[in-house]
Amino acid sequence: MDIQRLENIRKAKELDAILITDQYNMRYITGYRGEGMLFYTAYNKYILTDSRYTEQVEKECEGYECVDIESVGYGKTLSKLISRDIRKLGFENNSISYKVYAGLKNCLTDISFMELDEEIDKLRMIKDDEEIENLRTAEGIGDAAFSHILKYLKPGISEKDIALELEYFMKKNGAEGLSFDTIAASGKNSSMPHAIPTDKMIENGDFITMDFGCIYQGYCSDMTRTVGIGKLSGMQESVYDIVLKAQLTAMEAIKPGMMCNEIDKIARNIIRDAGYGNCFGHGLGHSVGLFIHENPRFSPKCNTVLEPGMVITVEPGIYLPGQFGVRIEDLIVVTESGYMNLTASEKNLIIV
Ligand code: GLY
Ligand code: MN
Ligand code: MN
Repeated sequence: MDIQRLENIRKAKELDAILITDQYNMRYITGYRGEGMLFYTAYNKYILTDSRYTEQVEKECEGYECVDIESVGYGKTLSKLISRDIRKLGFENNSISYKVYAGLKNCLTDISFMELDEEIDKLRMIKDDEEIENLRTAEGIGDAAFSHILKYLKPGISEKDIALELEYFMKKNGAEGLSFDTIAASGKNSSMPHAIPTDKMIENGDFITMDFGCIYQGYCSDMTRTVGIGKLSGMQESVYDIVLKAQLTAMEAIKPGMMCNEIDKIARNIIRDAGYGNCFGHGLGHSVGLFIHENPRFSPKCNTVLEPGMVITVEPGIYLPGQFGVRIEDLIVVTESGYMNLTASEKNLIIV
């Protein structure tokens, strides 16, 4: 990332220095993938870490001075680095533990600490072409995993088997990790949006919801498909159609200038008007990048205006406890004129 963008924040907030503790922000700004903190001043750029990572810092981030915190810890190390002209320090209050914060305060008694909230995260909101290509590749691995799993689904295999097979396939096909714990939820379990895979075998008449993602070059994918097993009821089919209509209609409205909560509302109204208003509790979507859940979000509360380069999921669901659930999730990029879908997998109801 062009460091000038961080410098602009420092100047605008009238800070003498910024301490970055969020690992994704540190990676985005410096390229460094290990643990530690970035201490940025108008004149110096330090990465504070311990001996497990000092060699990695030298390899991954040119132009940054690596400081080993040794056994003294972050607070004492910073107090040695801080010169008299540093009075006002911006810090990431969302990503620092109370213990670490208290340790810093204890060592830096003359410094005034200023909360930066999401100010640094905002640097990551608009993805550049290279980031979008990485996200596209990650989502493509997910699409391939979905095609693969369709051949594997049959009554008698367990939710855990399905999750494991998806994970194995993604890692075998270029993923460097998973973006979150894979969800494979069948039958009554599918009414839990974040169900944990169990030993339950999939059965005739089940819906199976699979929500999975992988990491490629640091960037996350995220997709969900709900597939029917054998014969489904009319109600199951109708709920699937409502979720699909909510997703497609909301997606059609995506373009620069729209507010995130307007997109959420389109899907929410369709689900409400179909009589399932109480069965869709979560937001319609979240941004995705180096981290799986980023801002802005398609949610009733988010009034961020869409801009080209934002990458956001569209994932409506209907969840009926004791019966079943349906969720469909794609990952889109906002473009100059609308959006581009990074997810290619079939969404019309598939029954195996
Ligand atoms: N399961 C993570 C998500 O779709 O947001
Ligand atoms: Mn997901
Ligand atoms: Mn998601």
